[in-house]
Amino acid sequence: MKVISVVGARPQFVKLAAVAEAFRGTGHEHRIVHTGQHYDADLSDVFFADLRIPKPDVHLGIGSGGHGAQTGAMLAALDDVLPGGTLFGGARPDWVLVYGDTNSTLAAAVSAVKLHLPLAHLEAGLRSHNRRMPEEHNRVLTDHAADLLLAPTDLAVRNLAGEGLAERTVMVGDVMTDILLRVRDAVGGKPLELPGGDEPHGTAGTDGAALADELGARGYLVATVHRPDNTDDPVRLRGIVDALASLPLPVLLLAHPRLRDRAEAAGIPLRQGALRVARPLPYPQMVRAVLGSRGVVTDSGGLQKEVFLLRRPCTTLRTETEWPETLDGGWNRLCADPADLAETVLRDAPTPVSGHPYGDGHAAEKVVAALAERT
Ligand code: UD1
Repeated sequence: MKVISVVGARPQFVKLAAVAEAFRGTGHEHRIVHTGQHYDADLSDVFFADLRIPKPDVHLGIGSGGHGAQTGAMLAALDDVLPGGTLFGGARPDWVLVYGDTNSTLAAAVSAVKLHLPLAHLEAGLRSHNRRMPEEHNRVLTDHAADLLLAPTDLAVRNLAGEGLAERTVMVGDVMTDILLRVRDAVGGKPLELPGGDEPHGTAGTDGAALADELGARGYLVATVHRPDNTDDPVRLRGIVDALASLPLPVLLLAHPRLRDRAEAAGIPLRQGALRVARPLPYPQMVRAVLGSRGVVTDSGGLQKEVFLLRRPCTTLRTETEWPETLDGGWNRLCADPADLAETVLRDAPTPVSGHPYGDGHAAEKVVAALAERT
Protein backbone atom coordinates (compact mmCIF):
# COMPACT_ATOMS: atom_id res chain seq x y z
CA MET A 1 0.00 0.00 0.00
CA LYS A 2 1.18 3.51 -0.89
CA VAL A 3 0.08 6.34 1.42
CA ILE A 4 0.83 10.06 1.36
CA SER A 5 0.35 11.94 4.66
CA VAL A 6 -0.14 15.68 4.22
CA VAL A 7 0.62 17.83 7.27
CA GLY A 8 1.52 21.45 7.91
CA ALA A 9 0.65 22.71 11.38
CA ARG A 10 1.85 21.88 14.89
CA PRO A 11 -0.97 19.58 16.08
CA GLN A 12 -0.72 17.57 12.88
CA PHE A 13 2.89 16.69 13.56
CA VAL A 14 1.87 14.99 16.82
CA LYS A 15 -0.75 12.93 14.99
CA LEU A 16 1.74 12.14 12.23
CA ALA A 17 4.24 10.90 14.82
CA ALA A 18 1.82 8.16 15.85
CA VAL A 19 0.92 7.22 12.28
CA ALA A 20 4.53 7.22 10.99
CA GLU A 21 5.49 4.96 13.89
CA ALA A 22 2.64 2.57 13.07
CA PHE A 23 3.78 2.40 9.43
CA ARG A 24 7.38 1.63 10.41
CA GLY A 25 8.37 -1.92 9.53
CA THR A 26 5.01 -2.80 7.91
CA GLY A 27 6.26 -2.92 4.30
CA HIS A 28 3.74 -0.25 3.30
CA GLU A 29 5.19 2.79 1.54
CA HIS A 30 4.44 5.94 3.57
CA ARG A 31 5.49 9.36 2.29
CA ILE A 32 5.18 12.72 4.06
CA VAL A 33 4.33 16.04 2.45
CA HIS A 34 4.76 19.17 4.65
CA THR A 35 2.86 22.20 3.33
CA GLY A 36 4.98 24.65 5.32
CA GLN A 37 1.94 26.23 7.04
CA HIS A 38 4.02 26.27 10.22
CA TYR A 39 7.68 27.08 9.59
CA ASP A 40 9.09 28.42 12.89
CA ALA A 41 11.44 25.92 14.49
CA ASP A 42 9.30 26.04 17.68
CA LEU A 43 6.16 25.12 15.76
CA SER A 44 7.61 22.58 13.35
CA ASP A 45 11.23 21.35 13.46
CA VAL A 46 11.32 20.44 17.15
CA PHE A 47 8.31 18.17 16.73
CA PHE A 48 9.98 16.20 13.96
CA ALA A 49 13.15 15.89 16.04
CA ASP A 50 11.61 15.12 19.46
CA LEU A 51 8.93 12.76 18.19
CA ARG A 52 11.31 11.05 15.77
CA ILE A 53 9.16 11.71 12.73
CA PRO A 54 10.89 10.93 9.42
CA LYS A 55 11.95 14.00 7.45
CA PRO A 56 9.22 15.11 5.00
CA ASP A 57 9.74 13.75 1.49
CA VAL A 58 8.44 17.02 0.07
CA HIS A 59 8.29 20.45 1.74
CA LEU A 60 6.07 22.93 -0.10
CA GLY A 61 7.26 25.98 1.88
CA ILE A 62 3.91 27.79 1.58
CA GLY A 63 4.01 29.75 4.87
CA SER A 64 1.45 32.19 6.29
CA GLY A 65 -1.28 34.17 4.56
CA GLY A 66 -5.01 34.83 4.55
CA HIS A 67 -7.21 31.75 4.41
CA GLY A 68 -7.78 32.00 0.65
CA ALA A 69 -4.20 32.80 -0.30
CA GLN A 70 -2.72 30.18 2.03
CA THR A 71 -5.16 27.39 1.15
CA GLY A 72 -5.05 28.24 -2.56
CA ALA A 73 -1.26 28.21 -2.69
CA MET A 74 -1.20 24.81 -1.00
CA LEU A 75 -3.86 23.45 -3.33
CA ALA A 76 -1.95 24.50 -6.44
CA ALA A 77 1.31 23.04 -5.13
CA LEU A 78 -0.32 19.78 -3.98
CA ASP A 79 -1.83 19.15 -7.41
CA ASP A 80 1.72 18.62 -8.68
CA VAL A 81 2.79 16.36 -5.81
CA LEU A 82 -0.14 14.11 -4.83
CA PRO A 83 -0.39 12.07 -8.04
CA GLY A 84 2.74 10.49 -6.62
CA GLY A 85 5.09 10.56 -9.62
CA THR A 86 8.31 11.40 -7.82
CA LEU A 87 7.14 9.96 -4.50
CA PHE A 88 6.37 6.45 -5.74
CA GLY A 89 8.43 6.16 -8.92
CA GLY A 90 5.52 7.02 -11.20
CA ALA A 91 2.80 5.10 -9.30
CA ARG A 92 -0.27 6.77 -7.81
CA PRO A 93 -0.94 6.54 -4.07
CA ASP A 94 -3.59 4.21 -2.71
CA TRP A 95 -4.49 6.84 -0.12
CA VAL A 96 -3.99 10.50 0.61
CA LEU A 97 -4.25 10.80 4.40
CA VAL A 98 -5.16 14.19 5.89
CA TYR A 99 -5.18 15.16 9.54
CA GLY A 100 -7.50 17.26 11.70
CA ASP A 101 -8.89 20.60 10.65
CA THR A 102 -6.30 23.10 9.44
CA ASN A 103 -6.00 24.88 6.12
CA SER A 104 -3.45 22.21 5.13
CA THR A 105 -6.15 19.56 5.70
CA LEU A 106 -8.66 21.29 3.47
CA ALA A 107 -6.16 22.01 0.69
CA ALA A 108 -5.02 18.39 0.53
CA ALA A 109 -8.61 17.12 0.65
CA VAL A 110 -9.70 19.29 -2.27
CA SER A 111 -6.59 18.43 -4.26
CA ALA A 112 -7.03 14.68 -3.69
CA VAL A 113 -10.70 14.50 -4.67
CA LYS A 114 -10.14 16.60 -7.80
CA LEU A 115 -7.35 14.22 -8.80
CA HIS A 116 -9.59 11.18 -8.08
CA LEU A 117 -7.20 9.95 -5.41
CA PRO A 118 -8.73 8.03 -2.48
CA LEU A 119 -8.91 10.37 0.51
CA ALA A 120 -8.87 9.36 4.19
CA HIS A 121 -9.54 11.86 6.98
CA LEU A 122 -7.97 11.23 10.35
CA GLU A 123 -9.82 12.79 13.31
CA ALA A 124 -13.05 12.85 11.33
CA GLY A 125 -16.42 13.76 12.83
CA LEU A 126 -15.41 16.38 15.40
CA ARG A 127 -17.85 19.27 15.54
CA SER A 128 -17.85 22.51 17.48
CA HIS A 129 -21.05 23.66 15.72
CA ASN A 130 -19.45 27.11 15.74
CA ARG A 131 -19.50 28.26 12.14
CA ARG A 132 -17.20 31.22 12.91
CA MET A 133 -14.26 28.87 13.37
CA PRO A 134 -12.04 28.28 10.32
CA GLU A 135 -11.41 24.78 11.69
CA GLU A 136 -15.15 23.97 11.61
CA HIS A 137 -15.31 24.84 7.91
CA ASN A 138 -12.21 22.75 7.24
CA ARG A 139 -13.39 19.66 9.10
CA VAL A 140 -16.95 19.62 7.74
CA LEU A 141 -15.81 20.11 4.14
CA THR A 142 -13.06 17.51 4.48
CA ASP A 143 -15.40 14.91 6.02
CA HIS A 144 -17.86 15.27 3.19
CA ALA A 145 -15.09 14.99 0.57
CA ALA A 146 -13.37 11.95 2.08
CA ASP A 147 -13.79 8.29 1.10
CA LEU A 148 -12.77 7.00 4.52
CA LEU A 149 -13.53 8.74 7.80
CA LEU A 150 -11.29 7.69 10.69
CA ALA A 151 -13.18 8.77 13.80
CA PRO A 152 -11.52 9.25 17.21
CA THR A 153 -14.58 8.94 19.49
CA ASP A 154 -18.08 7.47 19.70
CA LEU A 155 -19.50 10.98 19.50
CA ALA A 156 -17.56 11.64 16.27
CA VAL A 157 -19.05 8.43 14.83
CA ARG A 158 -22.54 9.64 15.77
CA ASN A 159 -21.90 13.09 14.30
CA LEU A 160 -20.88 11.53 10.99
CA ALA A 161 -23.90 9.20 10.98
CA GLY A 162 -26.13 12.23 11.55
CA GLU A 163 -24.69 13.78 8.39
CA GLY A 164 -25.30 10.64 6.30
CA LEU A 165 -21.66 9.50 6.38
CA ALA A 166 -21.95 6.30 8.45
CA GLU A 167 -20.96 3.95 5.63
CA ARG A 168 -17.61 5.63 5.16
CA THR A 169 -16.83 5.78 8.90
CA VAL A 170 -14.50 3.62 10.97
CA MET A 171 -13.90 4.16 14.69
CA VAL A 172 -10.14 3.98 15.38
CA GLY A 173 -9.62 6.03 18.56
CA ASP A 174 -7.46 9.10 19.01
CA VAL A 175 -3.89 8.96 17.70
CA MET A 176 -2.80 11.96 19.81
CA THR A 177 -3.55 9.80 22.83
CA ASP A 178 -1.07 7.19 21.53
CA ILE A 179 1.73 9.75 21.59
CA LEU A 180 0.66 11.49 24.77
CA LEU A 181 0.63 8.30 26.82
CA ARG A 182 4.04 7.32 25.46
CA VAL A 183 5.58 10.72 26.18
CA ARG A 184 3.91 10.93 29.61
CA ASP A 185 5.51 7.63 30.61
CA ALA A 186 8.91 8.81 29.31
CA VAL A 187 8.96 12.22 31.02
CA GLY A 188 6.99 11.40 34.19
CA GLY A 189 8.63 12.86 37.30
CA LYS A 190 11.14 15.00 35.44
CA PRO A 191 11.15 18.66 36.54
CA LEU A 192 9.96 21.55 34.41
CA GLU A 193 12.43 22.65 31.75
CA LEU A 194 12.01 25.93 29.88
CA PRO A 195 13.99 27.37 26.99
CA GLY A 196 15.49 30.84 27.26
CA GLY A 197 13.94 33.67 25.29
CA ASP A 198 15.26 34.92 22.00
CA GLU A 199 13.73 36.74 19.05
CA PRO A 200 11.60 36.30 16.97
CA HIS A 201 9.36 35.08 19.75
CA GLY A 202 8.97 38.28 21.71
CA THR A 203 10.31 36.58 24.81
CA ALA A 204 13.79 38.08 24.81
CA GLY A 205 15.24 38.27 28.27
CA THR A 206 13.47 35.18 29.64
CA ASP A 207 15.89 33.13 31.73
CA GLY A 208 14.39 29.68 31.26
CA ALA A 209 16.15 28.00 34.18
CA ALA A 210 15.33 30.79 36.68
CA LEU A 211 11.70 30.84 35.54
CA ALA A 212 11.42 27.06 35.88
CA ASP A 213 12.81 27.33 39.44
CA GLU A 214 10.33 30.05 40.38
CA LEU A 215 7.38 28.15 38.94
CA GLY A 216 8.45 24.89 40.53
CA ALA A 217 8.75 26.56 43.94
CA ARG A 218 5.51 28.55 43.88
CA GLY A 219 3.19 26.33 41.83
CA TYR A 220 1.80 27.60 38.55
CA LEU A 221 -0.79 27.45 35.80
CA VAL A 222 -0.05 26.96 32.10
CA ALA A 223 -1.86 29.15 29.54
CA THR A 224 -2.08 29.18 25.73
CA VAL A 225 -4.23 31.54 23.64
CA HIS A 226 -4.12 31.56 19.85
CA ARG A 227 -7.59 31.45 18.30
CA PRO A 228 -8.65 34.43 16.18
CA ASP A 229 -11.86 34.82 18.23
CA ASN A 230 -9.71 35.44 21.31
CA THR A 231 -6.76 37.33 19.82
CA ASP A 232 -8.07 39.48 17.00
CA ASP A 233 -10.49 41.73 18.93
CA PRO A 234 -8.31 44.00 21.13
CA VAL A 235 -11.08 44.44 23.73
CA ARG A 236 -11.49 40.70 24.18
CA LEU A 237 -7.75 40.10 24.11
CA ARG A 238 -7.21 42.77 26.77
CA GLY A 239 -9.93 41.15 28.92
CA ILE A 240 -8.25 37.74 28.67
CA VAL A 241 -4.72 39.05 29.33
CA ASP A 242 -5.92 41.14 32.30
CA ALA A 243 -7.82 38.18 33.76
CA LEU A 244 -4.80 35.88 33.44
CA ALA A 245 -2.46 38.54 34.87
CA SER A 246 -4.73 38.94 37.93
CA LEU A 247 -4.70 35.27 38.95
CA PRO A 248 -3.20 34.59 42.38
CA LEU A 249 -0.43 32.26 41.17
CA PRO A 250 2.13 32.52 38.37
CA VAL A 251 0.82 31.79 34.88
CA LEU A 252 3.26 30.33 32.34
CA LEU A 253 1.99 31.88 29.10
CA LEU A 254 3.32 29.98 26.09
CA ALA A 255 2.98 32.65 23.44
CA HIS A 256 1.86 31.57 19.96
CA PRO A 257 3.06 33.98 17.24
CA ARG A 258 -0.46 35.26 16.61
CA LEU A 259 -0.95 36.15 20.29
CA ARG A 260 2.39 37.93 20.41
CA ASP A 261 1.65 39.89 17.20
CA ARG A 262 -1.91 40.89 18.09
CA ALA A 263 -0.95 41.91 21.64
CA GLU A 264 1.90 44.03 20.36
CA ALA A 265 -0.32 45.66 17.70
CA ALA A 266 -2.96 46.48 20.32
CA GLY A 267 -0.40 47.79 22.83
CA ILE A 268 -1.23 45.08 25.38
CA PRO A 269 1.82 44.05 27.43
CA LEU A 270 2.05 40.28 27.97
CA ARG A 271 4.59 40.67 30.75
CA GLN A 272 2.39 41.87 33.59
CA GLY A 273 1.05 40.67 36.95
CA ALA A 274 1.05 36.89 37.27
CA LEU A 275 2.06 36.34 33.64
CA ARG A 276 5.42 34.73 32.83
CA VAL A 277 5.94 34.64 29.06
CA ALA A 278 7.80 31.86 27.27
CA ARG A 279 8.06 30.47 23.75
CA PRO A 280 5.85 27.57 22.60
CA LEU A 281 7.35 24.40 24.08
CA PRO A 282 8.56 21.22 22.40
CA TYR A 283 6.10 18.38 22.99
CA PRO A 284 7.89 16.51 25.80
CA GLN A 285 8.50 19.78 27.68
CA MET A 286 4.86 20.71 27.22
CA VAL A 287 3.78 17.43 28.79
CA ARG A 288 6.20 18.04 31.68
CA ALA A 289 4.87 21.58 32.10
CA VAL A 290 1.27 20.36 32.31
CA LEU A 291 2.12 17.50 34.67
CA GLY A 292 3.90 19.93 37.00
CA SER A 293 1.10 22.52 36.92
CA ARG A 294 -1.99 23.14 39.05
CA GLY A 295 -4.03 23.45 35.86
CA VAL A 296 -4.25 24.87 32.35
CA VAL A 297 -6.11 27.73 30.69
CA THR A 298 -6.34 27.36 26.91
CA ASP A 299 -8.31 27.78 23.72
CA SER A 300 -6.49 24.92 21.97
CA GLY A 301 -8.47 21.83 21.02
CA GLY A 302 -5.73 19.24 21.41
CA LEU A 303 -4.41 20.66 24.67
CA GLN A 304 -7.83 20.37 26.35
CA LYS A 305 -7.76 16.66 25.68
CA GLU A 306 -4.14 16.25 26.74
CA VAL A 307 -4.81 18.01 30.04
CA PHE A 308 -7.82 15.76 30.61
CA LEU A 309 -5.70 12.66 29.95
CA LEU A 310 -2.95 13.97 32.25
CA ARG A 311 -5.62 14.59 34.90
CA ARG A 312 -5.06 18.27 35.50
CA PRO A 313 -7.98 20.75 35.62
CA CYS A 314 -8.47 22.64 32.37
CA THR A 315 -10.30 25.91 31.75
CA THR A 316 -11.21 26.50 28.12
CA LEU A 317 -11.60 30.07 26.86
CA ARG A 318 -14.39 29.22 24.44
CA THR A 319 -18.14 28.74 24.29
CA GLU A 320 -17.92 25.15 23.03
CA THR A 321 -15.54 22.24 22.60
CA GLU A 322 -15.08 19.52 19.97
CA TRP A 323 -13.97 17.24 22.81
CA PRO A 324 -17.01 17.33 25.16
CA GLU A 325 -15.87 14.10 26.85
CA THR A 326 -13.30 16.28 28.66
CA LEU A 327 -16.14 18.09 30.46
CA ASP A 328 -17.03 14.90 32.36
CA GLY A 329 -16.49 15.21 36.06
CA GLY A 330 -15.47 18.86 35.68
CA TRP A 331 -11.93 18.19 34.43
CA ASN A 332 -12.54 20.73 31.69
CA ARG A 333 -14.77 23.80 32.09
CA LEU A 334 -15.80 26.22 29.37
CA CYS A 335 -15.28 29.84 30.31
CA ALA A 336 -16.25 32.26 27.56
CA ASP A 337 -16.25 35.38 29.75
CA PRO A 338 -12.84 36.44 31.11
CA ALA A 339 -14.67 37.97 34.10
CA ASP A 340 -15.41 34.40 35.25
CA LEU A 341 -11.87 33.15 34.76
CA ALA A 342 -10.58 33.38 38.34
CA GLU A 343 -13.60 31.58 39.79
CA THR A 344 -13.41 28.85 37.14
CA VAL A 345 -9.65 28.32 37.37
CA LEU A 346 -9.72 28.18 41.18
CA ARG A 347 -12.66 25.73 41.35
CA ASP A 348 -12.64 22.67 43.61
CA ALA A 349 -10.68 19.61 42.50
CA PRO A 350 -12.53 17.65 39.80
CA THR A 351 -14.01 14.25 40.56
CA PRO A 352 -12.12 11.19 39.29
CA VAL A 353 -13.44 9.65 36.06
CA SER A 354 -12.77 6.07 35.05
CA GLY A 355 -13.67 5.97 31.34
CA HIS A 356 -11.24 6.04 28.41
CA PRO A 357 -13.15 7.99 25.77
CA TYR A 358 -10.07 8.51 23.59
CA GLY A 359 -8.96 4.94 23.06
CA ASP A 360 -6.31 2.65 24.44
CA GLY A 361 -3.16 4.22 22.96
CA HIS A 362 -3.16 1.99 19.86
CA ALA A 363 -5.27 4.08 17.49
CA ALA A 364 -2.54 4.55 14.87
CA GLU A 365 -2.23 0.79 14.31
CA LYS A 366 -5.99 0.71 13.67
CA VAL A 367 -5.55 3.56 11.16
CA VAL A 368 -2.98 1.58 9.17
CA ALA A 369 -5.18 -1.54 9.32
CA ALA A 370 -8.28 0.38 8.19
CA LEU A 371 -6.40 1.83 5.22
CA ALA A 372 -4.88 -1.51 4.24
CA GLU A 373 -8.24 -3.34 4.43
CA ARG A 374 -9.80 -0.83 2.04
CA THR A 375 -6.95 -0.47 -0.46
C1 UD1 B 1 -3.35 26.79 12.80
C2 UD1 B 1 -4.69 26.07 12.63
C3 UD1 B 1 -5.30 25.78 13.99
C4 UD1 B 1 -4.32 25.10 14.93
C5 UD1 B 1 -3.05 25.92 14.99
C6 UD1 B 1 -2.01 25.30 15.88
C7 UD1 B 1 -5.85 26.80 10.57
C8 UD1 B 1 -7.01 27.56 10.03
N1 UD1 B 1 -5.66 26.88 11.90
O1 UD1 B 1 -3.63 28.05 13.37
O2 UD1 B 1 -6.41 24.93 13.82
O3 UD1 B 1 -4.89 25.01 16.22
O4 UD1 B 1 -2.52 26.03 13.66
O5 UD1 B 1 -1.01 26.23 16.17
O6 UD1 B 1 -5.17 26.13 9.82
N2 UD1 B 1 3.07 32.15 12.28
C9 UD1 B 1 4.40 32.27 12.57
N3 UD1 B 1 5.20 31.18 12.39
C10 UD1 B 1 4.73 30.00 11.92
C11 UD1 B 1 3.36 29.90 11.60
C12 UD1 B 1 2.54 30.98 11.79
O7 UD1 B 1 4.86 33.30 13.00
O8 UD1 B 1 5.52 29.05 11.81
C13 UD1 B 1 2.18 33.31 12.51
C14 UD1 B 1 1.90 34.14 11.29
O9 UD1 B 1 1.80 35.47 11.67
C15 UD1 B 1 0.55 33.62 10.86
C16 UD1 B 1 -0.12 33.30 12.20
O10 UD1 B 1 0.94 32.83 13.01
O11 UD1 B 1 -0.16 34.54 10.10
C17 UD1 B 1 -1.18 32.26 12.11
O12 UD1 B 1 -0.66 31.08 11.48
P1 UD1 B 1 -1.66 30.13 10.65
O13 UD1 B 1 -0.89 29.03 10.04
O14 UD1 B 1 -2.51 30.97 9.77
O15 UD1 B 1 -2.64 29.52 11.71
P2 UD1 B 1 -2.54 29.21 13.28
O16 UD1 B 1 -3.14 30.35 14.02
O17 UD1 B 1 -1.21 28.74 13.71
